Amino acid sequence: MTEQQYAISQYPDTDEIYARLKKLINQPMRPVRHEEMQKYLNYFETQCTRSKQLTDQAKKLIPGGVQHNLAFNYPFPIAIEKAEGAYLWDVDGNQYIDFLQAGGPTVLGSNYAPVRDKVIELLQSCGPVTGLFHEYELKLAELVHRFMPNVEMFRMLGSGTEAVMAAIRAARTYTKKKKVIKVGGAYHGWSDSMVYGLHVPGTGRMEAKGIPLGSTANTQEFFPNSLGALRAKLILNRVLGGTPAVIVEPVGPERGTRPVPYDFNRKVRGLCDEFGALLIFDEVVTGFRLGMGGAQGYFEVKPDLTVFGKCISGGYPMAGGVGGRADVIMCFAAGIGGRGERAYVGGTLSANPLSCVAGYYALLEMERTNAPVLAGRAGDRLTKGLQDIIEEHNLPYVAFNQGSIYHLETSGVMLLDLRNPLKLARELKPRKEMMEEMGAAYMASGLITLAGSRMYTSMADTDEVIDAALNKFETVLSSVEGL
Ligand SMILES: Cc1ncc(COP(=O)(O)O)c(C=O)c1O
Repeated sequence: MTEQQYAISQYPDTDEIYARLKKLINQPMRPVRHEEMQKYLNYFETQCTRSKQLTDQAKKLIPGGVQHNLAFNYPFPIAIEKAEGAYLWDVDGNQYIDFLQAGGPTVLGSNYAPVRDKVIELLQSCGPVTGLFHEYELKLAELVHRFMPNVEMFRMLGSGTEAVMAAIRAARTYTKKKKVIKVGGAYHGWSDSMVYGLHVPGTGRMEAKGIPLGSTANTQEFFPNSLGALRAKLILNRVLGGTPAVIVEPVGPERGTRPVPYDFNRKVRGLCDEFGALLIFDEVVTGFRLGMGGAQGYFEVKPDLTVFGKCISGGYPMAGGVGGRADVIMCFAAGIGGRGERAYVGGTLSANPLSCVAGYYALLEMERTNAPVLAGRAGDRLTKGLQDIIEEHNLPYVAFNQGSIYHLETSGVMLLDLRNPLKLARELKPRKEMMEEMGAAYMASGLITLAGSRMYTSMADTDEVIDAALNKFETVLSSVEGL
């Protein structure tokens, strides 16, 4: 195999980023000026009438009128009708540069024809699902193993959420231990045990409505980057039933919103070895986006288990999978060659031929075109351009990227936490609202972001696309208070 290349050209200076983020949240907000914001909101009223009509109707049947947590919904959701490469078009015919990228899977760009053609070919021969084995399951597992040799065995599932559940279940079955440790603020899907310390570090069960106490009793969180706190939990757990696994997003929680120092993962690996815990890398975002070798290849750290989502099916439905050490993954053996105790997983449509063929050809195309690296270069260009705009206007905002995973913090809401509960209580809502307003201003200017503070770039983001986007960002960022 040729040597792996990665999307990150230079690892961000995390100390500098945290210093700038700290400064950002310690000063008053700098939102878009009121009169300018009215103009942006007016765009939706006048240019997005069909979207408004559709989503008003949807509200009567669909709770909140929108079914995706990342869907932009301020002042109301926009209905998308067409996707191609770097662009999306809404039902009113407006064109947008798409930095949401469906939440991450489409590193090749939206609706990439060579993969779509293979999917159509398969649909014409066997349809999307039969319930029986299909050769593409094997082909995809072979490919994942080739790119990530740590994945000795692989099982395809329906989503990242399911894959995290499965990884934890396998770790508990294999080690016979109880307490799973995650990083505060990290999102690992919405299974009962993982809705804990969600988004805001230190908040434990704050979001765990409808989830019994018992379901999170064996979940613990530690403050981002605090290896001392992780060690203390591992020590304590020795008398509380042991630690089967520590689960981390290798670039930091919330896809690197709180970035980790470069050697963090290696140190977590060391602690896991010392305390006999398995290390689970949640590579739902980083898996193949950082490079075909994933974050584990980039950081050169070997996890015991790896969780996949998003890119594993190339942006097609049912994106989930778990892989890793053969002795652990064999806990899932359903029927064939099973030994020892079985960790139960399932799913009527799991590992269906459609998801597998899409994942297989998407990964092959990503390797052939070097898409992760190209998308990373687009992220670098976007970062540099935004940093220049921020500097030119002397704004407190912070822009940084890990390759094609991109952050533009203007309100700093993602950095509030329970270390300062008063500030959190006082500022969470207004800072969140400012982030939503920024998202609306970007959208009205033809830019779709992830919730107004995060973005993904893809291979389709050529220099021309990024430069056009930077012009639009410049307009929004020069319409904020204090300028
Ligand atoms: C790091 C991480 N883990 C798990 C998940 C859950 O994956 P899914 O949405 O496929 O259930 C996500 C989703 O965004 C994620 O970002």
